[in-house]
Amino acid sequence: KRPAGAPDTSLARPVTKVGIVGAGLMASQLALLFVRRLEVPVVLTDLDQERADKGVAYVHAEIDKLLAKGRINQDKANRHKALVSGATDKQGAFGDADFVIEAVFEEMSVKKTVFADVEKVVSPECVLATNTSSLSITEMAADLEHPERVVGFHFFNPVAVMPLLEIVRGDATDDATLATAFATGKALKKTSILVKDSPSFIVNRLLGRFMSEVGRIVDEGTPVQVADNAFAGIAPMPPFVLLSLVGPAIALHNNETLKGAFPDRFYVSPALERIVAARKGAYYGPDGALDPEVEAMLEKP
Ligand code: 3HC
Repeated sequence: KRPAGAPDTSLARPVTKVGIVGAGLMASQLALLFVRRLEVPVVLTDLDQERADKGVAYVHAEIDKLLAKGRINQDKANRHKALVSGATDKQGAFGDADFVIEAVFEEMSVKKTVFADVEKVVSPECVLATNTSSLSITEMAADLEHPERVVGFHFFNPVAVMPLLEIVRGDATDDATLATAFATGKALKKTSILVKDSPSFIVNRLLGRFMSEVGRIVDEGTPVQVADNAFAGIAPMPPFVLLSLVGPAIALHNNETLKGAFPDRFYVSPALERIVAARKGAYYGPDGALDPEVEAMLEKP
């Protein structure tokens, strides 16, 4: 059965090469997924070769883990490893790509610049997908020559195991682009849903409401560990473990977007702002204990 609102996938264009802008953790997880499921060349690009190579090394290491677990054989591991590469020069890397996805810093101006740069080097039919978790697809596409090929393609952490894919249609997105997005989502073995181009779409809007309230509970004096223990057996991950998985900066950005759009319903935690300003990536250390610096930032008035 076709997902509600999704176009007929017979309009979909083939995807024979994938470009990924960014080589951070999200981008690298995407590269792994595309290589494994589509079995086409995937190029990760970043500002310098070292970062791009780090993304490739992540994919190789994850493929080695799958091999060690007996999930894939040596032949497949070699084949998949050979399909992923890293580059800095988008022109060379993306010239023959038909699907480019960006997973760079969550900031509208950065994403617009990325798409404007990519548009100069790809064919007019090449899909420009964004893994944005909260920003407007319509606005991101607005200044492009071909805004009709821009689509939201939002994955969830950890990408390898979370089944959902939010596909977002902007005002200009055409049927062929949407069809290609749905066909690709299917090939990636994700459950695709068509969502409206609105702040944080569906999942992060719901999750943002939950994270915003649990942030308030902690700001009112409940220890993080108590708030987390309160969810044992109720949610698959306690809220501050989830917040650490997603990254405090992304979570804060999501809450800020939602507070901007719906000021009466969302709360931006000052403690979370302090934690992000201090560039803390997680609430708990590797030993499972609350990071003492995070604890101090939670208590600071
Ligand atoms: N990366 C890759 N694979 C992972 C992983 C990771 N970080 N964490 C777990 N896995 C894999 C494990 O290897 C295991 O695979 P296997 O069965 O093949 O060995 C499988 O997932 C299950 O893992 P576990 O049994 O160790 O652990 P759990 O039963 O606790 O499941 C979980 C792990 C599926 C991640 C579960 O805790 C969960 O669903 N957590 C909630 C995650 C969530 O809500 N994500 C959405 C965040 S919002 C978001 O991403 C939006 C963005 O825009 C901010």
